Amino acid sequence: MSLVLIIAQTFFFAVGGYYFLGMVMGASTDRKGIKEDDKREAERINALRKVSLGKPLTERARPSNFEEIIGQEKAVKALKVALCGKNPQHILIYGPPGVGKTTAARAALEEAKRSKGTPFAMDAKFVELDASCLRYDERSFADPLIGSVHDPIYQGSGAYGSFGIPQPKQGAVSEAHGGVLFIDEIGELAPMQMNKLLKVLEDRCVHFESAYYSRTDKNIPHYIHNIFREGLPADFRLIGATTRSPSEIPPALRSRCTEIFFLPLGYSQVIAIINGAAARLNLTVEPCAAECLAAYTSNGRDAVRILETLANLAENEGRSVISKTDVLWAVRNGRFERKRSEFSKPCEIKKSKPQKREKVVELNVKKE
Ligand SMILES: Nc1ncnc2c1ncn2[C@@H]1O[C@H](COP(=O)(O)OP(=O)(O)OP(=O)(O)O)[C@@H](O)[C@H]1O
Ligand SMILES: [Mg+2]
Repeated sequence: MSLVLIIAQTFFFAVGGYYFLGMVMGASTDRKGIKEDDKREAERINALRKVSLGKPLTERARPSNFEEIIGQEKAVKALKVALCGKNPQHILIYGPPGVGKTTAARAALEEAKRSKGTPFAMDAKFVELDASCLRYDERSFADPLIGSVHDPIYQGSGAYGSFGIPQPKQGAVSEAHGGVLFIDEIGELAPMQMNKLLKVLEDRCVHFESAYYSRTDKNIPHYIHNIFREGLPADFRLIGATTRSPSEIPPALRSRCTEIFFLPLGYSQVIAIINGAAARLNLTVEPCAAECLAAYTSNGRDAVRILETLANLAENEGRSVISKTDVLWAVRNGRFERKRSEFSKPCEIKKSKPQKREKVVELNVKKE
């Protein structure tokens, strides 16, 4: 009997040992596989980083300081007053599309950094988001604006997941800490996102919650305990831009911000924008061409967009001067409609009559 037991015990021990060995070998093969994957992917990403198509023309044409912004003197002054100096404020910018709101907001932080008594450090960040692209997740699994907690149940295995540690992930409000958070189209934020943002503006930090967090859990690293206890810092100045009217923006946000109004651009202002952008792109635009282009556009963005096409056209044809004929080609090709009547001369290519003239010359020659 005891011999049978010994044999059975040895058999089960051998089978158990075989499986255990298999698991250990499997795990080490998996680890080897992960390492190889890691190396291959790192090499692939490094190779991708080496590929660059250069700075887009849009970026090169964009004004980089307040002086280059055309036709918004009052708004730019108000922006300076609100953001520069000792006590920068939150700001809401209203205005039609393509009149310089984003451009001015980008330049504003750089201007503020140079102002006397400013709390912004020279390396203060400008974090830019477009509210119309911000997905709102009611369950807060991921919140790129405010931040979220990755709970262990969703992390699966892995260092934090297997120890049951909830992991706070910072959002844009914390990334902008010490600088400016610019939210384009802020009127498109979901009501709940707006409420959360207002709370962060009030507290100047983000508080996280998780059913998986326990103050007494010794597995949880100190920094995570600290984040759950004190919150993540989120002290920034908000600049929101919108094409909506003030009545469409929640009063709670409006009451916390200085409101600034950008104006529609006039004909001569669009001409000045075209000339400014052309200078930054090292192009010469004939005066008649700039006037003609301004007649087909109602804002700075459209004008600069067509100018970029013309810059490519000129580059392809090995020249640096843009003529009215080029502009007419671009607006007709892009099916742009004429927006302004100021350009008095009809924008049409005058048909020269070379054949007739040639004939005259021929006749003259014959006469001689
Ligand atoms: N007032 C301006 N002065 C100089 N350039 C301008 C002006 N307005 C627009 N531009 C040109 O048009 C481009 C687009 O402008 P910008 O992105 O600032 O417009 P926006 O008001 O933010 O528009 P949207 O409401 O669509 O976001 C800029 O890169 C710039 O080249
Ligand atoms: Mg914008």
